[in-house]
Order: sequence, then C-alpha cells, then structure tokens
Amino acid sequence: MHSLMRDVMEYIDAHGQRFVRELVEWVKIPSISSLPEHTRDVGKSAEHLMTQLERTRPDRALVLPTRGHPAVFAEWLHAPGRPTLLVYGHHDVQPVDPLEAWQSPPFDPEVRDGQLYGRGTVDDKGQVFIHAKAVEAFVETGAHKLPMNLKLIVEGEEEIGSQNLADLLRDHAAMLASDYVCVSDTAMYGRGVPSLCVGLRGLVYFDIVVRGPAADVHSGSFGGGIANPANALASMLGALHDAEGRVSIPGFYDRVRTLRPDERKAMAALALDEAEWLRASGAPLAVGEKGYSTLERIWARPTLDVCGLTSGFQGPGSKTIIPATAAAKLSCRLVPDQEPDEIARLLEAHVRRLAPPGVNVELHYVSGGRPYLAPTDHPVFASAKRAFSRAFGKETVFIREGGSIPFVPTIADSTGKPCLLMGFGQPDENSHAPNERLVLENFHLGIKAAAYLYDEISRLDG
Ligand code: BES
Ligand code: MN
Ligand code: MN
Repeated sequence: MHSLMRDVMEYIDAHGQRFVRELVEWVKIPSISSLPEHTRDVGKSAEHLMTQLERTRPDRALVLPTRGHPAVFAEWLHAPGRPTLLVYGHHDVQPVDPLEAWQSPPFDPEVRDGQLYGRGTVDDKGQVFIHAKAVEAFVETGAHKLPMNLKLIVEGEEEIGSQNLADLLRDHAAMLASDYVCVSDTAMYGRGVPSLCVGLRGLVYFDIVVRGPAADVHSGSFGGGIANPANALASMLGALHDAEGRVSIPGFYDRVRTLRPDERKAMAALALDEAEWLRASGAPLAVGEKGYSTLERIWARPTLDVCGLTSGFQGPGSKTIIPATAAAKLSCRLVPDQEPDEIARLLEAHVRRLAPPGVNVELHYVSGGRPYLAPTDHPVFASAKRAFSRAFGKETVFIREGGSIPFVPTIADSTGKPCLLMGFGQPDENSHAPNERLVLENFHLGIKAAAYLYDEISRLDG
C-alpha cells in the first residue's frame, strides 16, 4: 500500500478509543431541533463541532447562522488543481420520548456490547464524526494534508425538514461549490456489508385538524345531533387506502416510475431476510401494497402514513364527550417521478372531498422534499465502491433507502451532479427510536472507508 495511506490507517487504529470519547462529548449535547426548549443546545452543538474541527487545521471553520438552527462549515483546501469533495451531514437529533424505554440515558452515552448507545450516535453525529476523524488522520500524518480538497457542511435542521437549506445553499453557493458530494446519513444493508445507497424517497408532510363544537361538549346532550370530529377524521383516514394497500388519492400514482425488470432483479438478488428485517421493527407481520416485495415496498413504492393521531379524552377511565377537535399528522413517502407540490395538491383536494358535513377541516403543509435516484454509471460510484470495500474487506452492494434527506435531491438538482450516499449505520440501530446506537466497529471501519474515499477522489478529474 501507498505509504501515506498506511500511515493514515495506522493513525486511525491508534487513536480509535479517543475518537469514541470525543464523539461521546458531542452526543451529550441534546441538539433536538424540533423542540423549542432545546434551541440553545442546537447552537451549542454547532459551536462544539466547530471547535473540534478547528483542531484539524482547516483553512476556515465557521458556524453558519440560518433563520432557524445554525449549520457548521469547514474546508481544507490542500490540493490546488485536485477535485473538491463536499461532505454533508447533520448535527440535530430527534426527540427522545418515551424516555422510560431507554436502557441508558439518551444524552449520557454508554458503550454496551461494542455499541455506543445514545441519541444521535448513528443519526447523524457519529457519521459526521467519521469524516472529521478521517480528515484528522490525513492532517496529523504524512504530508500533514489531504490529497484532495474537502468541504464539510453539517446542517442543524435536517430532522425538521431542512427548511432553511435552500437559502443556505444559495447564500453560500461559491463557498460550497464542489466537484463531488458525499452524504453519510444512511444504513448499510446488513452487518459488515458495505453498501452504497443509490436512491432515497421524497416526502410530503401534512397536519390535519378537524373542528366541530367550539369546546368538548356532553355526548349525551349533543351526541347524535352534531358531527363528531374524531369519527369524521377516522372515516377520512380510513378512506385513504383501498383493500389492496394502495393509496386512494386520485392521481397519486400517475407519475410513479414503474420498476424495470433489472431493478426488480437486483433487489431480489439482495435476498432480504424478511424475518430478521421484521424483528428490527417488533411488528407481528410484514404487510403492504399487493404485488410488491418488501424491499420494493420500502424503497421504490410511495406510501401514505399517519404519523400522529390525537383527539378527545386521553386519561384513565371514561369521560362522555364529543371532542372539539381531532388532529392527525400525515406523511407521504414519494418515489421518482412524483413531485411534492403536486402530491400535496392532490392530497389536500382529496381530504377536503372526504370531509363529511358538520366539521371544518384545516390542512397545514409542513414540509416536502423530492425523491432521489443516483446515476450509478458515473465513475465516482466505482471509486466509492473500491473505497468502501477496501475498508470493510467485502464486495460493496448498491441499495436504496426508504427515508429522505432533503439535501440530497436539492444539491443534485442544483449542481446536476450525482450525490454519493456512503452510510455507516445498521438497519437495526433504532434511529428516531429509544436506544439508538452505533456499532463501533462500523465507526472505526467507516473512518477508514472515508479516508480511502478521499484517496480515490484525489485520483479523479476535478
Ligand atoms: N438519516 C435519516 C434518513 C434516512 C432514514 C436514511 C432511513 C436511511 C434510512 C434522516 O435523518 C431522516 O430522518 N430524515 C427524515 C427527513 C424528514 C424529516 C424531512 C425522514 O426520512 O423522515
Ligand atoms: Mn439522518
Ligand atoms: Mn433522522
């Protein structure tokens, strides 16, 4: 092996335990972007990361304020004339409720069984840290520099829909300009299987509020005489799918790209262990749209799901009322070539049509993002495959994910260049759920894979 890369790998091996301790300090900051009481913590998390990055001698490292939570930017422009890689991640995390379900406190990370438990360990602080430490390994060894140019952008609002991201990218377009883009915020197909994610679903998210009486009223005095918002909402939601598991919004599937036979074959070849996949969810049975396999359903078919549902009396015992309101949070996952704005319009019109007389229905569009499908014939995918396989010692597979990362379609659309999704998570690491964790072996190998990626990119044309 090239002696620079040998030094880099030795450095990563020698300092792995410290890397974990440093990650722990960052995970301790509860940077929950969706909860107003944690706004200052998201700011602290940005400052903390910037201070960490400053120690690896960047040309500059700054906190970038937005109208919401701040992002962090750093760059190492060590290789004039060589390509520039933009690495994206996020430092905000999801809420932690229900707290009782955590075996150790979410913001007091603990290593158990080779895994680091804590909110943000895999989604996405640990994966951002993988890149930070790969950079450090180059800076602290050999020629004290990277073989290519690297820019790092770490957002603080990904978990709430990246609403200020478009502005951020526009306001700092020159600073963020790059030849290649890499995002580490996805999972590998299985334990030890290096996986490049080549597709993400898009998203449309709505709040629905159904209003009836001005306040909760006695269900003996009024029940049967006025519409019940909870009944109304339940019947509306029940009408959003047909018996075959298809979404019944007219026009919903019009732009859905049909899976090609070779795409279906490639997914089938991944031979999903359905029982194991199901176990990670704890659900009793795999169900979904008729005519599609589980991988097809979660990677390449659109969905509509209720994410939250609330109305009426929630306490113990009984209280005989007609609730004043009923509310639901709805999300659609989108696939190529569905457009969030169009799906939002179709959904809104259909929900309004479904509303029974006697209630008022309000719809609030929360956020949306486009789906993404990578052009895998681009040479950077071969480079990334080699890098991933070199670190993990296994053949790299192409996968898709059912989740969404608004940055990915945004940057791909605006630059016209492909985005690499090199994720180091595991499907069963409980992201967004209690007991989120990161397999530490993947953390250490991930740092090596990132270092190999930088080496590979340095050989490409800018
Ligand atoms: N890291 C996830 C995206 C993801 C999810 C990748 C599942 C692979 C599998 C990201 O942090 C996330 O949670 N995204 C949100 C986006 C939304 C809030 C706009 C999502 O997918 O729900
Ligand atoms: Mn994430
Ligand atoms: Mn997430």
